[in-house]
Amino acid sequence: MTQVDIAILGAGAAGLFCAGSALSQGKRVLVLDHARRPGEKIRISGGGRCNFTNLATARDRFLSQNPRFAASALSRFAPQDFVALVDRAGIAWHEKALGQLFCDGKATQITDMLLRRMAGAELWLETSVAGVARDGDGFVVQTDRGIVRAGRVVVATGGKSIPKMGATGIGYEIARDFGLRQVETRAGLVPLTFAEQDLSLCKPLAGVSVEADVRCGKTSFREPLLFTHRGISGPSILQISSFWEAGAELRIDLCPGTDVAAELKQARSTAGRVNVATALGRLLPDRLSQAVIAEIGLSDARLADQPNKRIEALGARVNGWQVRPVGTEGYRTAEVTLGGVDTRDLDARTMQARDVPGLYFIGECVDVTGWLGGYNFQWAWASAHAAGLDL
Ligand code: FDA
Repeated sequence: MTQVDIAILGAGAAGLFCAGSALSQGKRVLVLDHARRPGEKIRISGGGRCNFTNLATARDRFLSQNPRFAASALSRFAPQDFVALVDRAGIAWHEKALGQLFCDGKATQITDMLLRRMAGAELWLETSVAGVARDGDGFVVQTDRGIVRAGRVVVATGGKSIPKMGATGIGYEIARDFGLRQVETRAGLVPLTFAEQDLSLCKPLAGVSVEADVRCGKTSFREPLLFTHRGISGPSILQISSFWEAGAELRIDLCPGTDVAAELKQARSTAGRVNVATALGRLLPDRLSQAVIAEIGLSDARLADQPNKRIEALGARVNGWQVRPVGTEGYRTAEVTLGGVDTRDLDARTMQARDVPGLYFIGECVDVTGWLGGYNFQWAWASAHAAGLDL
């Protein structure tokens, strides 16, 4: 049996960061993970360059049953605090659109930095955690390497997204075993899928990307949209997927900022001899304009021959595409898991379970989920830091 002061379950973003923060208190810290390597999601994040934070981090960039919960941790560990660590480690980075910060080089630089920061803590890889139980003042952690006794336990085992990469949902089971409430989980930041009749447009366009304004109810995002063989994806769709619920309709503007019908009428009056496809092709990617025109049956039609009504129908099809997805691609490809450990049962300053002194939940397993764009890592760092200061 191994005895430690602090056992951190999960060597992902939150667990590794928490180990570094906890060490400064001079305690014996053990991090456990069943993966072969630490920080597997960091490695593949941001297309391999890790979008490690977002300068626009604010409470309203997160979904939770209790939108106020994240504010305390986020205010005590800001994006600039993480940037300072990245700078000190000599990692070059750049800002992309919308405050998103990425490494210039490989994402693994971030993992290496986190590992250096927690030097002195022990890391057991290829060690599967099966559960946690109370043991006097402390806890016992059941692993496939035997029992670990710990004064305090931090659950940083992430969500259910991408089981192939080691996601298990064990964090939710541990929370349940200790009587913490759960907010129902579902896949977030995930591609949406269509029924066969709506796929006739998407399938031939698979791989085509277009700037789009995508709305679901009162929420909208203007970012690229990507057509896929199963439906739609791309940043605007991943964003809206976290707000979409089964049965809801999306309204998609495939040419935001341009009134397509007005533009086509204008073109009709000045250059009516061109065909509709050529005129629309000036506003949309070629393949998309051809697909929309074929769908409406105007493939070889001249612009001059089109009555207002038809041009308006074409404009509405581009500026106000209404579609009802049938589902999402699920945890198989989702970047995050929405829902999780109910924040009502956690202390917002420390991430400690209110009724279980010594037990903490951080990162993705908590019911706090960021938008796309570096917010989820910022939550991992901030929640880990909040717990680390209390350990
Ligand atoms: P995380 O999932 O990172 O770590 C949990 C750890 O627990 C894993 O190492 C797992 O192996 C381990 N574990 C699980 N069950 C276990 C068990 N039973 N026993 C032992 N170990 C167990 N976010 C962002 O801000 N910017 C970005 O660029 C991206 N990009 C991105 C790309 C892709 C493809 C995905 C899937 C996700 C992203 N994200 C992202 C989201 C981000 O990766 C995610 O929010 C964080 O990794 C969450 O950190 P955690 O430490 O909470 O969980």
